[in-house]
Amino acid sequence: MITIALSKGRIYKETLPLLSAANIVPTDDPDKSRKLILDTNHDDVKLLIIRATDVPTYVQFGAADIGVAGKDVLLEHGGEGLYEPLDLKIAKCKLMTAGLIDPKPRISGRLRVATKFTNVAKRYFESRGEQIELIKLYGSMELGPIVGLSDLIVDVVDTGNTLKANGLKPVDHIADISSRLVVNKASMKMKHEKISAIIEQIGKAVNNE
Ligand code: ATP
Ligand code: PRP
Repeated sequence: MITIALSKGRIYKETLPLLSAANIVPTDDPDKSRKLILDTNHDDVKLLIIRATDVPTYVQFGAADIGVAGKDVLLEHGGEGLYEPLDLKIAKCKLMTAGLIDPKPRISGRLRVATKFTNVAKRYFESRGEQIELIKLYGSMELGPIVGLSDLIVDVVDTGNTLKANGLKPVDHIADISSRLVVNKASMKMKHEKISAIIEQIGKAVNNE
């Protein structure tokens, strides 16, 4: 059995053509089904539909052999127990700091940063020698500076429309982001033949894009 962990939405949509190039085609549609384990055209290949942030955890612990996760999520997770053999070049965006277009005076002595990427933010500001106060959020980070919760946020930015619509602007670039194929280290050894065939076929499809 090979299990592949994916999140609904943009990663699922953009991964489908790549899986299809490896002749893996789901027989269920996650938008129509409430099932969390989707069957495919192979009896021994299943797709797990989980939260984007949870993909590295499932793969790290071997609950899934393979996963597709944004580099933002992988940087936050740390990558322990994972191989990252392929850049799938999908769901491209940037990890950035952002703040109000018209900045207000600092809320307190230390710069306050609200984000769901607390590990990334901690490392980034440490590398710049800046002491910050971190506030963990789980979404809608753009609200932070507007309501005086934080001075800055760390979030992914693509068109910049979400920032703009909320009176924010990008400040500093932290990393370019795309989604990666990740593989559990033990699965890579135990199921080498099947997994390396999948990696090779998906890799070819990425390069033909
Ligand atoms: P979770 O449900 O775990 O909170 P999420 O809502 O961030 O995760 P998605 O919005 O599906 O999940 O994003 C999945 C991945 O797609 C992100 O980890 C990131 O790498 C990338 N991504 C996020 N927003 C954008 C965007 N606006 N444009 C392009 N890629 C994006
Ligand atoms: C993501 C992210 C940003 C937005 C950036 O949200 O959380 O808010 O995209 O994209 P932009 O720069 O093109 O506006 P998404 O649309 O995925 O919604 P969600 O995070 O709430 O799922």
